[in-house]
Amino acid sequence: MRSKLVPEPKLIFEKSYPGRVGCNLPKADTPSVDLDAVLGATRKELNLPEVAELDLLRHFTNLSHVNYGIETGFYPLGSCTMKYNPKVNEKTAGLTGFTHIHPMQPVETVPGALDVLADVQDILCSVTGFDAITLQPLAGAHGELTCLMLIRAYHESRGEGETRRVVLVPDSAHGTNPASAAMVGYTVKSVPTNAEGNTDLVALESLLGPEVAAFMVTNPSTLGLFEPHIERLCEMVHSVGGQVFCDGANMNAMVGTTRPGDHGFDCMHLNLHKTFSTPHGGGGPGCGAIGVKQHLEPFLPIPVVLRRSGKVELDSHRPHSIGRVSAWFGQFLMEVRALTYLLAFGKDGLPEISRHAVLNANYVKARLRNVLPAAHDRPCMHECVLTAERYKKEFGVRALDISKRLIDYGFHPPTNYFPLIVPEAMMIEPTETESKETLDAFCDALIAICHEAQTDPDLLHAAPISQIVGRLDEAAAVKNLDVRWTPKEATTV
Ligand SMILES: Cc1ncc(COP(=O)(O)O)c(C=O)c1O
Repeated sequence: MRSKLVPEPKLIFEKSYPGRVGCNLPKADTPSVDLDAVLGATRKELNLPEVAELDLLRHFTNLSHVNYGIETGFYPLGSCTMKYNPKVNEKTAGLTGFTHIHPMQPVETVPGALDVLADVQDILCSVTGFDAITLQPLAGAHGELTCLMLIRAYHESRGEGETRRVVLVPDSAHGTNPASAAMVGYTVKSVPTNAEGNTDLVALESLLGPEVAAFMVTNPSTLGLFEPHIERLCEMVHSVGGQVFCDGANMNAMVGTTRPGDHGFDCMHLNLHKTFSTPHGGGGPGCGAIGVKQHLEPFLPIPVVLRRSGKVELDSHRPHSIGRVSAWFGQFLMEVRALTYLLAFGKDGLPEISRHAVLNANYVKARLRNVLPAAHDRPCMHECVLTAERYKKEFGVRALDISKRLIDYGFHPPTNYFPLIVPEAMMIEPTETESKETLDAFCDALIAICHEAQTDPDLLHAAPISQIVGRLDEAAAVKNLDVRWTPKEATTV
């Protein structure tokens, strides 16, 4: 649906004028060549637009301004952590010493690159409290999958591969958790969340038995809450021989402050593309590094990057390894970016990340308390999950309508309808990089919108009204993509 206020931009073809050119070349002092004769029909069939240089420049510059990104505005997407990536990360990742090496080069020629891998691993071991790290997985979900493959290999090594067929997953979990377990061939059973927003330990107890291979716990949970009985919960699973996996996508709430490896977990994945500020979005490239305790080390993907007497080596002689989970060594330049970020903050700076992330989320939660209450009224971690249920019941306005109206106020919407267990959920993650002024402006906008929901609900139903496109049919927009770059009547290539 087109917005009422903003005219539809023209395609570059609609700005085209026959014979117009984008450059003025000096008169040729060599014999001219008839390009049509040389290239035949090919050139004509390309059907290129004919525009002047300035028109071309304005066209693409204006298009780039229609986009929204972390460098143009605040991105409160909960669970997806779109935080600012310091430019110095890009600077180091762009160093030719890194960009000009080839993964097939003999390892003796790239000691510096191996040092980078080993340094990231060493720092992540000390940050997470795990004994070993691999950087091979290419995304958070890939890290989950790798951890479950290690767990399966571990049970198989103990002769329990056939009997342990069940993976427990909380009902609040990110969708990738049950999907990863199913991909490794496990049966998934759901563990309910109790009224306080924690794992229901009584229900967990009733699901535990010799068939349990693992429990996948997200801490802090997708409700933005720290699981208070984490040690007890790990003990319960261990007492029946199961393994406990930590979904560490939310590590930005804990980094430098507390270590999952000390809580009783056997393995975890990290999203370097969230916590450690490597760019995130559009499907990658990411890095879902995983950490494991000693008993899972023999199963790690090969080659294992090891530092022995000060020298970094690749160890592929691992008879129990699950094999490779990606080509080469993961997303190498992401690892360079993460290392830059880790070193820039240092041991003393890292706790500032989690403290500010938690402070910012609690600030937003407190400022919005009277209009959008939290699903669970207790201090949150790095994100807060609010509910717009009241507006749906009283005014027919849904969380989606409120989010769409935020676009008119110049903000990207937060995550909606996740976690699934919260009605009309609005999941807001400010991240540590946003200022108080930005958070205040965002909260002011939401407060104004909640007022509009009561006085003019149809305005919210129609939102956004300030953009080139208005409210989309989201299913149709995904299924029937309209991404033509030529006008309908022109030849498509
Ligand atoms: C809690 C949680 N777990 C897992 C993932 C999966 O990470 P990725 O998108 O990198 O696959 C996410 C992603 O946003 C997440 O929020």
